[in-house]
Amino acid sequence: MAIREIIKYPHPLLRKKASPITEFNAELRQLVADMAETMYAAPGVGLAANQIGVLLQIVVIDVSPREEKNKLIPLINPEILEGEGSVIDEEGCLSVVDYAANVERFSHIRVRARDLDGREVEFAADGWFARVIQHEVDHLDGKLFIDHLSSLKRALYKKKRKKQLLMEEQERAAKND
Ligand code: NI
Repeated sequence: MAIREIIKYPHPLLRKKASPITEFNAELRQLVADMAETMYAAPGVGLAANQIGVLLQIVVIDVSPREEKNKLIPLINPEILEGEGSVIDEEGCLSVVDYAANVERFSHIRVRARDLDGREVEFAADGWFARVIQHEVDHLDGKLFIDHLSSLKRALYKKKRKKQLLMEEQERAAKND
C-alpha cells in the first residue's frame, strides 16, 4: 500500500469525468487499498480516484467513528438512482484546502454500485453517509462542492486560493534564493 498525493483545486484533473471500471482485478484492489490509506492518513471520510489523479469511477468512504477505523466502503461505478428530501450542512474537501461551506444535498438517496468483485449492489443511504456519497459521486463527474455555492461565495474562495498559491510560490522562491 502507498499513500498517494492528493491533488488540490484548481488542478485540471479535478474537472474531468472519470471512466467506469470494466475489469475487477488485482490492480483495482491495489488502487482501492492505496486510496483507503491516503484517505485515512489525510484524514478524511471519503476520497474519489480523481483526487489522486486517476480518472476511474472509484470512491472509498468511511464515516464510522475514528476509533473503529475498519468500516471501509469502496464503491465502484457508483450511481445515484434517486434522491429525495433536502438538508443543508457544512462540507469540506481534501482537494479544496482551508475551506468549508454549507451545501444543500438530498437527505435520502438510492445508490447502485459494484463491489470489488464486480457484483452489483443497491442500497439506500441517508444522513451524513448520503451526503458523503453525493460529494464523492460529484468528484467522478468533475464537480466540486464549491460548484453548489452561490457565484459570489465561489468567487471569494477562488480569490483566497489564488492568494494562497501566490504566497506558497513566494515562499518557495525565497527558500531557493
Ligand atoms: Ni471532496
